[in-house]
Amino acid sequence: MRDVLVSEHVIEAGYNLCGIGACLSLIKRNIAGKILIMLKNLEYRGYDSAGIAVITPENTLDLRKGVGKIDDLKNKLHFDQMVGFVGIGHTRWATHGGVTEENAHPHTDCDGRIVVVHNGIIENYLEIRKELETRGHKFRSDTDTEIVPHLIEEFIKRGNDFYEAFKNAVKKLKGAYALAVVSTYEPNKILFARVFSPLVIGLGTDEYYIASDIPAFLEWTNKVIILEDGDIGYVSQGGVLIENVFLNRRVHRDVTTIPWTKEMAKKGGFPHFMLKEIFEQPQSVSRTILMARKQIDRFLDYLEKAEEVYIVAAGTSYYASLHGQYAFAKYGLRSRAVVASEFIEEVGGFIGNKDLVIGVSQSGETADTLLALRYAKKKGAKVVAITNVIGSAITRISDYSIIMGAGPEIGVAATKTFTAQVAVLNYALIKWAEMHGYDMDDVKRVFLNNIGEKISNVLEKANSLAKKLSEWMVPKSNAYYLGRGLGLPIALEGALKMKEIAYIHAEGYPAGESKHGPIALIEKDFPVISIVLNDHLQEKMLIAIEEMKSRGAYIISVCEEGMKKIQEKSDFIFEIPSGFSNILAPLVYIIPLQLLAYYTAVKRGCDPDKPRNLAKSVTVE
Ligand code: AGP
Repeated sequence: MRDVLVSEHVIEAGYNLCGIGACLSLIKRNIAGKILIMLKNLEYRGYDSAGIAVITPENTLDLRKGVGKIDDLKNKLHFDQMVGFVGIGHTRWATHGGVTEENAHPHTDCDGRIVVVHNGIIENYLEIRKELETRGHKFRSDTDTEIVPHLIEEFIKRGNDFYEAFKNAVKKLKGAYALAVVSTYEPNKILFARVFSPLVIGLGTDEYYIASDIPAFLEWTNKVIILEDGDIGYVSQGGVLIENVFLNRRVHRDVTTIPWTKEMAKKGGFPHFMLKEIFEQPQSVSRTILMARKQIDRFLDYLEKAEEVYIVAAGTSYYASLHGQYAFAKYGLRSRAVVASEFIEEVGGFIGNKDLVIGVSQSGETADTLLALRYAKKKGAKVVAITNVIGSAITRISDYSIIMGAGPEIGVAATKTFTAQVAVLNYALIKWAEMHGYDMDDVKRVFLNNIGEKISNVLEKANSLAKKLSEWMVPKSNAYYLGRGLGLPIALEGALKMKEIAYIHAEGYPAGESKHGPIALIEKDFPVISIVLNDHLQEKMLIAIEEMKSRGAYIISVCEEGMKKIQEKSDFIFEIPSGFSNILAPLVYIIPLQLLAYYTAVKRGCDPDKPRNLAKSVTVE
């Protein structure tokens, strides 16, 4: 298996939007309904078509697929009438070939005996397809995926058994992919392979599940094997067999018990996952702090020994990291937050073996962040990860990982993972500052004892205000989010949320810089959202607000209660209880901004859970 082909830029495999859900019953129970539920649970990833294939008790293939929403397809194709003890399902987001029934997965070989679902992109599919066509294989779709069942068929014809044929087929693929395969040749097996596209195995009661993501099967099991890059194998009556194509040998993978419940992965009565996740923050932050207590000491050890500290991340995780930098700086702990995709060019030349690089990523699968961390490791730096996903790629390349307790985040826009990241960085800072003689009692009292309750209070007050203000925001095309000091990362994250889900051009800016250019755009009723902490920068924020207001801007302030001067100058106010104008600020100040983005998106007719062009884990460079 040594010669598996992986391109230099395997990460160019595309967004991981497609969803795989497969199931094998060990006691001859019908699994079609479960595959359907798994696909429903994966809907959040976005898709344009879907399909299910099962091997029937008579050992024939029943394959149904089509374009559109799962519920509509269920009515049309009667997925619920399918019967089989083993099967695979798929939600497709078109990459190769249009959105058609033929291109929807699963795909079969010529004889309809081998059936495949796939996530990722097979880069060399055209040359393989040509070769197979000259050997007489007939293709029905334009997809890259369809070469896989034909390749397996070809190797079976040459005398391989089902699994051998699969291994030989995988050896020929170049790119990144997650695959699940069943066949009438051996109807008691699901074969799988993962090369740079996530795939996990769930161990249920008399059942195995294979899926792109844990929430797919969370209602039946939380016992999970997280496959690693290069893993290939199968589940069968005999258990789970895993080999690794890069190591060229059989490998053992631990069974991890994921501390998530099925309720965590459902909408729980909210209209969207995003709103549910915003409202979960009192619990997710408290849980993260509890979990961090047990994990923080080793992190402190790394911090203590480091000559230079870099915090590397993308998107929302970068803004949490920037908060880390600003908060650390207040206590004399020098660090630098760096956008992952710029890391090598910006600071790569300075990284050495005495440095610590902290990688922050909710998914743990972001290509830019992984590449930066791999680079840092190569230069000898120590790497610590902060992530929400046990067993994700980032945990495997890091010297140490801190797992946050945010629970599954289904909405594409990060909300509760942002506050969880901030909570971990804050917790490390509090402990570090205490070790260095700072009195952290006041901050600690709120952070450790009643942060959940405080976030709840802000949620309750801000919810109706955000709903009201969103009506006014709906027709807007632009907005500025201004902040200074610890308020800046909050402003940047607030603007990103508005951009991502409501598609309003929103720019986060250091308030002091706004007079150096951005102010040129201000005209009557231009929305300016100002994040004002009750600290030494308050007066300077007031100046920026006045500059904007005098040119006609509509000022929306997120500020502490009792900040009279700011409130007088503002047209709309979100009040935050006092006691938060310090490193805890993002945990509460971000709440009104998340809610405002959410309600504005919904009122503009956008789906906040599945914003266009975005994916939950961005595995492209
Ligand atoms: C957040 O709302 C975005 N979807 C995006 O910016 C995200 O934060 C970024 O892609 C990084 O993801 P990660 O935390 O999984 O590494």
